[in-house]
Amino acid sequence: MNTTKIIAHRGASGYAPENTISAFQKALEFNVHGIELDVHMSYDGYLIVCHDEGVDRTTNGKGLIKDLTLNEIKSLDAGGWFSKKYSGQRIPTLQEVLDLIGNKGIFLNIELKSGPIIYPNIEREVINVIEDYGLSGNTIISSFNHYSLLEVKRIKKTIKTAPLYMAGIVSPWKYARDIGADGIHPYFYNVTPQLVKLSSDNGIFVNTFTVDDPNYIKYVIGCGVAGVMTNYPDRGFSALEEIQS
Ligand code: G3P
Ligand code: MG
Repeated sequence: MNTTKIIAHRGASGYAPENTISAFQKALEFNVHGIELDVHMSYDGYLIVCHDEGVDRTTNGKGLIKDLTLNEIKSLDAGGWFSKKYSGQRIPTLQEVLDLIGNKGIFLNIELKSGPIIYPNIEREVINVIEDYGLSGNTIISSFNHYSLLEVKRIKKTIKTAPLYMAGIVSPWKYARDIGADGIHPYFYNVTPQLVKLSSDNGIFVNTFTVDDPNYIKYVIGCGVAGVMTNYPDRGFSALEEIQS
């Protein structure tokens, strides 16, 4: 029995505009095991769910999130760039996403976008919110900024953390242990059966991103990863079915 979890990357972002409520709703329709999303902070201190530091690519606006107020961000159309059908979608706050998915029993992977722009206290703010929603036991906090993960552990040891990386970490399971992390989130080209085995032997889970090619999805599942992040959750479930049949 394969236990790999299917994680909707930025929501089901192959089918609806990434990191919007429509993408998270779509992910729920696919019955995903988990959802990944990205968090920044607005000028007035709100936690904003968006991938880029700026709003230019995914909205009809311009500028950096750190320079925009929540009201300014909320005035932008975050769906029209993807398809007319989705125009009128707004960039959500973290709380708005949790209002939708918080009681669905799926796990959450919050990626702190704490670099290159540094948001003061973003770690504390995110922890406060997930604690308010009773989700701290059901959340993994990840980041390419591993100092942010040290800060998360300093604030609350029991929250799971996982360093994101693209390539080139020697013995990442040792590194994860060194920084007090619970897992690793490698780019999928790094995944091998040995990586997963040695990590798991050392008590470190492996969730990999972002795998949309069905053959690669099958490959990483075959390597035994705990979770696979994909923009197309249905491809993840088809791969699981194929492997099990
Ligand atoms: O958290 C996995 C993945 O989202 C990391 O890269 O750039 O898609 O946020 P990115
Ligand atoms: Mg991300």
